[in-house]
Amino acid sequence: MPTVDNPTEKRLAELGVHSPAEVKGLFEWVRERFDAEARRNRDSAGWNITRQMWLGRKSGVLTQITENWLKPSPIELKRAVGESLNSFKEHVEVVLANAAAAVESESESAVAAKDRIDLSLPGVIRPIGSHHLVRTVMQEIEDIFFSIGFSVVEGPEIETPYYNFEALNIPEHHPVRDDMDTFYLELPKGAPGPLLLRTHTSPVQIRTMEKRQPPVRVIVPGKVYRRDNPDATHSFVFHQIEGLAVDTDITFCDFTGTIEYFVKQFFGETVKTRFRPSYFPFTEPSVEFDVSCIFCGGSGTGASGATCGKCKGSGWIELFGAGMVDPAVYGFVNYDARKVSGFAFGMGMDRLAMLKYGIDDIQVFFQNDVRFLRQFP
Ligand code: FA5
Repeated sequence: MPTVDNPTEKRLAELGVHSPAEVKGLFEWVRERFDAEARRNRDSAGWNITRQMWLGRKSGVLTQITENWLKPSPIELKRAVGESLNSFKEHVEVVLANAAAAVESESESAVAAKDRIDLSLPGVIRPIGSHHLVRTVMQEIEDIFFSIGFSVVEGPEIETPYYNFEALNIPEHHPVRDDMDTFYLELPKGAPGPLLLRTHTSPVQIRTMEKRQPPVRVIVPGKVYRRDNPDATHSFVFHQIEGLAVDTDITFCDFTGTIEYFVKQFFGETVKTRFRPSYFPFTEPSVEFDVSCIFCGGSGTGASGATCGKCKGSGWIELFGAGMVDPAVYGFVNYDARKVSGFAFGMGMDRLAMLKYGIDDIQVFFQNDVRFLRQFP
C-alpha cells in the first residue's frame, strides 16, 4: 500500500506500482478512503464539499488520478488503470447521487412534518353569540304591538333636515331644534343639501304616510343620535321605537288604551305609570309617559338616604314622548286633516330595557363587555 500522504499527487512508478494487480490494489485503497468518508453523516452543504473534493474538475481526486496515474502510465498498465478509474468514478457518482437524494427527501419530510394537520385534534370552538339585550327587548316590544295589529317599518339613520325637522312641523328657527342639535355629515363640495344623523325615529312617520294611505298602524325600531352628554340614562347613540296610528276615527282614548295595554304587557300589572303634559311640535296635545323608578321604589331617595341618581330624586323615569298627531303634519303628507286623526309615540328602548332588567347604567349597552352580555343569553 502507498505510504505517501497523498498518493494521487505521485505517478505510479513513484508509488512502486508496476503491475495490473498492484493497480487494482491501489484503487481498492482509494475506494476504502472514499467509502470511509461517505459513511460520515452530513447535511447538503457537507455533501457538496465532498463532491467537490472527489469530482471537482480542477483539483478533485479523480482529476488528479487521471492526470498523475492514467495519462503518464506505461502502455502495459494503461488498460488496468483506465478500467479501475472508470469503475471507481461510477461508484463515486452513485454514492454521491444517493446521498443528495436522501438529503432532499429528509428536508421535504421535515417541511411536511411542520405543515402536517392533525385531523384528530379537536376543532376551534367559536362561541355562538346571543342577542344583545336591547335586541331582545326590541323583539318583546314588537311582539306586543304585533298582537294588536301594528306592523314594523324601518327608515334611514342618515336623514335630511326636511324629514328630521321640517315635515314634523319644526321649521328652521324653531327653538326645539336646540334640544335636538345633532351630528351633521361633512359632505363633499357640491353635494346636495345637508345630511344629519337622525335625532329620533319620528321622520319615519312622514316617510310612511307619504307612501301609505290610512289606516296606518306601524312601529319603527331603530338607532338615533344626539349630542347628549353621557350619564346613567343618556347616551349619544340610543334606540327608539316609534309608533304611529292614523285612521278616520282615532281618539285620545285609543291612544291611552294602547299605551296602558303595552305597559302592562311589558312590565306587568303592578307598575305605576303617569302621563304628564308636554310639548312636541308634531303632536297636539302632547304628553310624556313616565314609570315609577325601580331603583328607589319611586321614593326618589336611594338606600344610603341620598337622592336617587337614576331618577334624580323625582321617583319617576321618563319613558317616552307621545301625543295626538298635529293636524299640521298631515299637510306635509297630503292627508286630509279634517278626515283623519291619529296618535304617535317615541319610546326610549334602552330605558325600557334598563327598567325591566334592573340595569342601572345605560352605558353598559354600548361597551360590549362580554361579562355583561353573557348575563342575558
Ligand atoms: C322624541 O324623540 C320624540 N320624537 C318622541 C315622540 C314621538 C313624541 C312621536 C311625540 C310623538 P324625546 O326627546 O322625549 O322625544 O325622546 C323620546 C325618548 O327617548 C325619551 O323619553 C327617552 O326615553 C329616550 N331618550 C331621549 N334622549 C335619550 C338619550 N340621550 N339617551 C337615551 N335615551 C334617550
